[in-house]
Amino acid sequence: MSPLRVPLLAVLVSMALCQYYDYDYQPVSVLGPSGPNCNQECDCPVNFPTAMYCDNRKLKFVPVVPTGIKYLYLQNNMIEEIKAGVFDNVTADLRWLVLDNNQLTNAKIAKGTIDKLSGLEKLYFSYNNLTEPIIPPSKSLDELKMTHNKLSKFPSGLLTDKENLTSINLQHNQLTSESITGAFKGSKKLLSLDVSHNKLKKLPAGVPSSLEILYADYNDIDSIGAGYLNKLPSLQYLRISHNKLVDSGIPAGVFNVTSLVELDLSFNKLQSIPEINEQLEQLYLQANEINKIDMSSFCKFIGPINFSRLKHLRLDANNVTYSNMPHDSANCLRQASDIMFE
Ligand SMILES: *[C@@H]1O[C@H](CO)[C@@H](O)[C@H](O)[C@H]1NC(C)=O
Ligand SMILES: *[C@@H]1O[C@H](CO)[C@@H](O)[C@H](O)[C@H]1NC(C)=O
Ligand SMILES: *[C@@H]1O[C@H](CO)[C@@H](O)[C@H](O)[C@H]1NC(C)=O
Ligand SMILES: *[C@@H]1O[C@H](CO)[C@@H](O)[C@H](O)[C@H]1NC(C)=O
Ligand SMILES: *[C@@H]1O[C@H](CO)[C@@H](O)[C@H](O)[C@H]1NC(C)=O
Ligand SMILES: *[C@@H]1O[C@H](CO)[C@@H](O)[C@H](O)[C@H]1NC(C)=O
Repeated sequence: MSPLRVPLLAVLVSMALCQYYDYDYQPVSVLGPSGPNCNQECDCPVNFPTAMYCDNRKLKFVPVVPTGIKYLYLQNNMIEEIKAGVFDNVTADLRWLVLDNNQLTNAKIAKGTIDKLSGLEKLYFSYNNLTEPIIPPSKSLDELKMTHNKLSKFPSGLLTDKENLTSINLQHNQLTSESITGAFKGSKKLLSLDVSHNKLKKLPAGVPSSLEILYADYNDIDSIGAGYLNKLPSLQYLRISHNKLVDSGIPAGVFNVTSLVELDLSFNKLQSIPEINEQLEQLYLQANEINKIDMSSFCKFIGPINFSRLKHLRLDANNVTYSNMPHDSANCLRQASDIMFE
């Protein structure tokens, strides 16, 4: 396995395991003597000379990055400042910048540093003290992780030219619905957006129609705009658990779209089961206040090819038991192998 493949693989695997990722990108096996062109505070493996590993060494500043470095690992330090000039020799070449788990604030990121990086593809900036997003001018950005910061806004227009951006992680910040209006417009290839653990009162507006995954758990969402999902014809996974959804905030048929495969509405205040499409496979409704089960939420019509594709349905921690299931439910929920009541 080539040295480049190791971190790539680590990231791909962690992406596959959903949003949980590991900070330990460093492929221990490739750490050898430092290459000739390396900052003395860091390691540049001779067999992977375009990578510079400066992680886990109590650094307070970003070290000067020598010509030729494309992959820069700075996670798990005590970096408070990015001084002017440190990226001057790599402004066009730097592709990956990993700054997770440091102490960076917006005020101490000098002009002419990240705002000069024109070839960056991945920016990992989680677990810092940013109050506003830092976005490089690179049109090649494909992944942005800025979780566990103090972002209170994400201004509109910052991402409009990011034609290759596919994944944005902003969970655990202080974003409000107003402060992110239009933030994601223009990222025409965006597949995955995670805005969980923020202060949203509604699902983000103006998200690209390419979106396949939208996670908005742990916010203050109490209603969904009528037709919201009709503008997202590719959306397959929608999570809105741990919010304040009530029946009156769910317009008729708002979740009845054919693209959805998984819908998580657990830990809300719903009293009835919303109408879902026949194609939905996973529906999570545990810990709501559901007190009736009406098959018309799942099937309006039952026939040889007209039945719900639902496989898993969670209804535990509600006010219903198996005895509330209508007698003819098996006709509609033909594939539901797993219905949980407790
Ligand atoms: C930056 O580039 C200049 C000009 O090529 C060179 O003289 C200098 O040594 C480089 N600095 C580093 C840290 O690579
Ligand atoms: C970053 O935030 C943490 C937690 O709020 C705080 O303890 C720390 O002092 C902050 N660091 C800087 C450099 O602002
Ligand atoms: C976007 O990705 C495609 C396919 O990988 C690539 O050919 C293209 O150059 C990228 N665009 C930018 C602006 O980097
Ligand atoms: C969902 O929408 C389709 C098409 O509009 C409709 O035929 C079906 O009855 C609806 N399903 C539910 C459960 O409301
Ligand atoms: C039955 O299912 C087919 C295929 O999914 C669909 O086109 C048709 O509208 C459905 N009929 C009713 C009455 O829902
Ligand atoms: C739960 O359901 C029972 C029987 O349908 C009803 O009498 C009771 O009031 C419900 N409790 C709540 C908290 O909704």
